[in-house]
Formats: sequence, C-alpha cells, structure tokens
Amino acid sequence: MSDGLDRVREAIRAREAAGLRRTLRPRPSGSDVHDLASNDYLGLALDPRVTAAAAAAALEWGAGSTGSRLVTGTTELHQELERELADFLRGRAALVFSSGYLANVGVLGALGGRDVEIVSDAANHASLIDGCRLSGSTVQVVPHRDVAAFDAALAASDKPGRLAVTDAVFSVDGALAPLTELHEVARAHGALLVVDEAHALGVIGPEGRGAVEAAGLADEPDIVRTVVLSKSLGAQGGAVVAAGEVVELLINIARPFIFDTGLTPAAVGAALAALRILEAEPERVGAVRANAAALAQIVQDLGVETAEPDAAVVPAVLGDPLRAVAAADACLAAGVRVGCFRPPSVPPGGSCIRLTARATLTDSDLARAAGALRRAFE
Ligand SMILES: Cc1ncc(COP(=O)(O)O)c(C=O)c1O
Repeated sequence: MSDGLDRVREAIRAREAAGLRRTLRPRPSGSDVHDLASNDYLGLALDPRVTAAAAAAALEWGAGSTGSRLVTGTTELHQELERELADFLRGRAALVFSSGYLANVGVLGALGGRDVEIVSDAANHASLIDGCRLSGSTVQVVPHRDVAAFDAALAASDKPGRLAVTDAVFSVDGALAPLTELHEVARAHGALLVVDEAHALGVIGPEGRGAVEAAGLADEPDIVRTVVLSKSLGAQGGAVVAAGEVVELLINIARPFIFDTGLTPAAVGAALAALRILEAEPERVGAVRANAAALAQIVQDLGVETAEPDAAVVPAVLGDPLRAVAAADACLAAGVRVGCFRPPSVPPGGSCIRLTARATLTDSDLARAAGALRRAFE
C-alpha cells in the first residue's frame, strides 16, 4: 500500500539517475574554501560598513518590516533606498521588492495579461520565465539574443499589449543582451522592453550603473528595469526602476508587492550602504571585470570551452551533467567552490561549471583557482 510519497521518491530516483539530483551544502562560518561561486561581485557582503549598516537598521527599525509594503512594511529607509537606486541608475522611479525573483514576477504580472503578448529570450532567468507564465499572457520564446526573432514575433502579434523581455547579462553564459537593437525593435512595435539587470548592476558601465545606462537608454520611458540587491550589493531583495506610471501601477496591482511582507530593514540598510560604496569606489567595477577576464583566460588555457566575459560570469562548458558535477566536486576538494549548472537551468548538453569573479580576488586567489581547475578538467 502506498504511503502517498511513492511519486515523490520516484521523482527523486529519476533525478538521481539522470545526474540531476541537487543537495544543500551549508557553508561553515569563516570557511577557508575559496569562493568562485557566489554573486558577491564587488566583495561587499562582508564589508564591515555594509554589515554594520544592516545591524544598525535592524536595531532602529526591527528584525522584520512588520507588514506588507502597503500596510506597515514601508519605512523611511525603504523610501531612501528607492530614491538613491533611481538616482544611481539615472532612472525615474524605483520600487523595492523582497527579492529579485519577486520583482520579476511582479512586473510581468502587472504589465502582462490575457491581452498581452510577451516575447522572451530563450536563455532568460527562471524568475522571468515564471513571471511570463503567471502573467497569463501569450508567450513566444525566441532564440537567445536574436533581435530579428524578437522583431518577427512582435510583428506577428495581434495583441493590444506587447512586452519584450530579456536579461541584460545572461546568468549562465554571461553574455550581454543587444539592448540598443532590442529597444529599437520594441519601440517600433509599441512594446515595452523589460530588462533584468541582476548581473549588470555594479558590473556593466564604467561606474557599474548597469547595461541600460551604459547603452544610453536610462531615461527611456518605455524601458522597465529590474535589479537585485542580492548580487553586487551583497544584500538581499530586488527592485524595479521605471517610469513613475509603471511604479504607480505596480504599487496598485503587483501581487508579489502587495501580498508579501516588505523587505527586512537589515537588508534595506545593507543595500543602501553598499550602493553608496559602489558610488564612492567605482574602481571595484574595473577590478571585477579584469578578474573575470583572467578567469576566462585560465579556462581557455586549459582547453575548455568558454566565452570572453562581458560581465563577471565565466562559464566552463563541459556538456554532460555528470562531468559538470565531477568537476565542481574536484574544485571543492581542491578548496575552490564553483557553481554547477545542469538542465533545466541550461539546455540539454550545455552543463557547465560557472565561475564568478569578484573585485577583491588577488593574484594568489587566481593562482589557486588555476590549480583547482587544472585538477578538475584532467
Ligand atoms: C538574472 C536573475 N534575475 C533574478 C534573480 C533573482 O534574484 P534574487 O535571488 O534576488 O531573488 C537572479 C538570481 O538569483 C538572476 O540571476
């Protein structure tokens, strides 16, 4: 007699057999394992100025925000962060969500709908994919970074509302989206362009103001940006940067904004401190990009497929998921933690390990990475 969990056990067995079983590996505090897996691109997650700001915000405003943003969950600190984020990104207005995932789901839910066609890049992040699905829109997925395909899909739509959706920097292959061309195409078809700047904030543009700003498009009212506070800012949370009308609509109808407890004050305080450091120390942006180039060179010299990095993300493509898992395990055994990506995060045959650069990597860190990767690729 089944205890009701047969299907669950079978699903786990099937993932194991396909080399796709995932497990949690808690990091010990103060570990000397070398991190090439996190998204702490600017090395700010443990910066004492950022952690002190988190602590101060918790002491002043509480451990939690106490309610949804529309009830008690908006503190003056949230408002300050929104103002400074919009200014830094040279945008018009900003709205903080409790995660980047929810910012994407919220934007697409609010701007999408049954009378909306969404055209979405095939390599977009899962949060954009889920946002498309949950929005109830008709969704056309087009080949990765293919402007002509975006154009054709938007032209073929007879829906009154249209959205083109793309990551600014794609999370697995690390490539930049062709934003100028996508914006031209979107505008020609009366579509809004939604750009997820999760991996671009703090990394793209000389001062890290992101890919939209670097392309000279920051003030375009028909571009809606999402950013995360959880990567280069070393904190937690997400935000939308857009025209005032878009932010107004989100406050009114975005379900992940309305029915979710506001971002915790500690994360708001940390993100605000990190943003101010980014503004004051733009040299961190150049450092992370230089370190990404050095990591890509190491991978290439070891004869493994990679791409010249546009941002901080450096993939090393191994194809087979079991090979990717073995390489990630070998790196860890050599004291270096790397990311491991398998389907469905990447297309079948595209399993890879992913190295992420940090502004604070030293020459000796890079040498240690080279040694670990040599053993992993043997
Ligand atoms: C491109 C992209 N968008 C959104 C997210 C979600 O952000 P968060 O982790 O802050 O929820 C991530 C990563 O986690 C991401 O890589």
